[in-house]
Formats: sequence, structure tokens, C-alpha cells
Amino acid sequence: MKDIIFLIGFMGTGKSTIAEYMRKNYGREAVEMDAVIEEREGMSVSRIFQEKGEAYFRELETKLLGELGGRKNLVVSCGGGVPLQDCNVELMRKNGTVVFLTAAPETIYKRVKNSHNRPLLEKNKNIPFIASLMEERRERYERAADVLTVTDGRSAEEICKEIVEKISQGIQKADACPGM
Ligand code: S3P
Repeated sequence: MKDIIFLIGFMGTGKSTIAEYMRKNYGREAVEMDAVIEEREGMSVSRIFQEKGEAYFRELETKLLGELGGRKNLVVSCGGGVPLQDCNVELMRKNGTVVFLTAAPETIYKRVKNSHNRPLLEKNKNIPFIASLMEERRERYERAADVLTVTDGRSAEEICKEIVEKISQGIQKADACPGM
């Protein structure tokens, strides 16, 4: 198994939860990209978007991904926008295995409705918006991924077991995208 597992997927697909579960139960070090960026900048993702703009945030994401390259035994919870840039996808695929977590828009809505640190959803917290942004991004997520795992209605334990099994069986590229 490669040294880094990169968890990608739309906001609210459970990337942080799965990274934390893997940290606790699989002895991997976990990196939550948004949290690292917030700590470095001394402000929330929402404020970075507001005060410095999205493009600045995207640069920070790419810089951080580049820094993770040589690390070992890591699971990285990527911000939902990370696979939108080709250079980020290249970095992830070079340095690790990319796991795409999916969930239906209805599931995402339930998971994010009480959160206020997702600037792209703040004024658009509804199922049609989530579905359309997800559809816009779907191909990029699919192309970046080595492995796809559906998260709707499943426990962190089930999801992690599936991820580890698929990675160790060397299952490559998922074509279909159920749950989206
Ligand atoms: C974003 C997802 C967020 C965060 C930022 C932008 C996106 O991370 O990086 O609000 O473009 O999808 P999560 O996917 O962890 O919510």
C-alpha cells in the first residue's frame, strides 16, 4: 500500500470522520487540510474566503499538498475543492492512493445543514444547489480517484474496511459513481 491515503469528495461526504477513524483504528497519522490551513492563517476558512479570496485559499491547498509528499503512513482529509486543479491531482496520484467518498445530495444536506464554515454552501444550503455543484464536479472526482466508496447509511468502520480492502486488492479506477 502506498504511504498516503488521500480522501477526496464533495463537502459532507465524511472525509474528516474517516480520516479520524483511520487515525484511531489503523494507526495512521491524520491531516485535515482545512484545519492546517486555518491554523497557519490564524482564521477560519470562511474568513480566508471573505478577506483574501478563494484563489488565495486554493494556492494554500496546493502548497500544503506539495509539502505532504514525502510523509509516511498518512491519511489526508482533502478539502472538497482539491481535485479541481490538475496540479493537485498529479501530486496526490504521485504520492499516494486517492479514495473518492460519495454521498447523495440528500445525505450531504443533512450532514452540512448546521455547519457554518463552508463558504460555498453558506447561502446555498439546499438539495438542488448541492446536486448541481456535485454534478459539475463529478467527473473531476472520478478521474482523480483510484478507489470509490459510497458512504450513505454506512458506519465509519464499514467504510474504512472497504477502503483498506479495495486498496490492498489493488482495485483501480471506479467508473460508476453510485450515490451521487
Ligand atoms: C470546499 C470544501 C471545504 C473547504 C472550502 C471549499 C470546496 O472543505 O475546503 O470550504 O470547494 O468543496 P470540506 O470538503 O472539508 O467541507
